[in-house]
Amino acid sequence: MRIVYKHCYKQSNKTPRTFGTGPRATCRRNACHGVSEDTITVMGRNHSGYINPSSSPHQSLLTIADHASGMRFVVAMTGASGAVYGRRLLETLPGEKILVMSEVAKSIIPTELGCRPEELEGLADAVYDDRDLFAPISSGSYRFDAMIVVPCSASSLGKIANGLADTLITRAAAVAMKESRKLVLVVRETPKSAVVLENELRLARNGVCILDANPGYYHNPKTLDDIIDFVAGRCMDQLGLEHDLYKRWG
Ligand SMILES: Cc1cc2nc3c(=O)[nH]c(=O)nc-3n(C[C@H](O)[C@H](O)[C@H](O)COP(=O)(O)O)c2cc1C
Repeated sequence: MRIVYKHCYKQSNKTPRTFGTGPRATCRRNACHGVSEDTITVMGRNHSGYINPSSSPHQSLLTIADHASGMRFVVAMTGASGAVYGRRLLETLPGEKILVMSEVAKSIIPTELGCRPEELEGLADAVYDDRDLFAPISSGSYRFDAMIVVPCSASSLGKIANGLADTLITRAAAVAMKESRKLVLVVRETPKSAVVLENELRLARNGVCILDANPGYYHNPKTLDDIIDFVAGRCMDQLGLEHDLYKRWG
């Protein structure tokens, strides 16, 4: 059975992306940020994922280096608190975005974001089920530039650190590591047991960026959005992308 979004189009025929230049210009829309009802009307589902037509004209707000628009990012959301960071990154990342949400993440999203997980799918170009190990990102031969797990649970962290790849998220992370691609884990857990710390250390020693969902305050945040943007901005920094999400020191 195939699910096709209304107004779907072939990926190769996508309208050119338009990115705004002002900070936080147009992304503050409704609960899940401008994903209209007809955008999420589905008619059938392709088990191996689908192309999402609704993301490109609305991501805006960044001054993005030209090269970034040709990049492909995997954004994985797992069952830790902090779904808001995943949503913000989906809103701000340039290029092509492939979204995977774990089953627990899908349960947490309504609690924390007040919207259905399907509504976040409107911010990505393609979406895959976490059980779909046949998805393209399962293979090292499929090119993606970087993967960000945001938020990353201690459980997913532990699997990735120990080579377990029984879900699409953990498999794609294993692919990123074996193919020497950038992997960023936005871990959200506190306090941390020695097991979690050891897993983090093991991954850090293997080139994985452990980026705690841990905002700084030296940029004088005034709102919750400022704090969220700081964490999203630090992720963008790791990917080498220009942004206006927070004011840098100095
Ligand atoms: C409401 C809720 C909040 C949770 N928050 C966290 C958290 O912040 N950090 C964490 O490591 N696990 C958290 N968990 C536990 C994980 O969801 C659980 O370990 C799960 O197996 C993770 O699976 P996943 O990584 O495949 O999504 C939370 C669970 C629930 C139900």
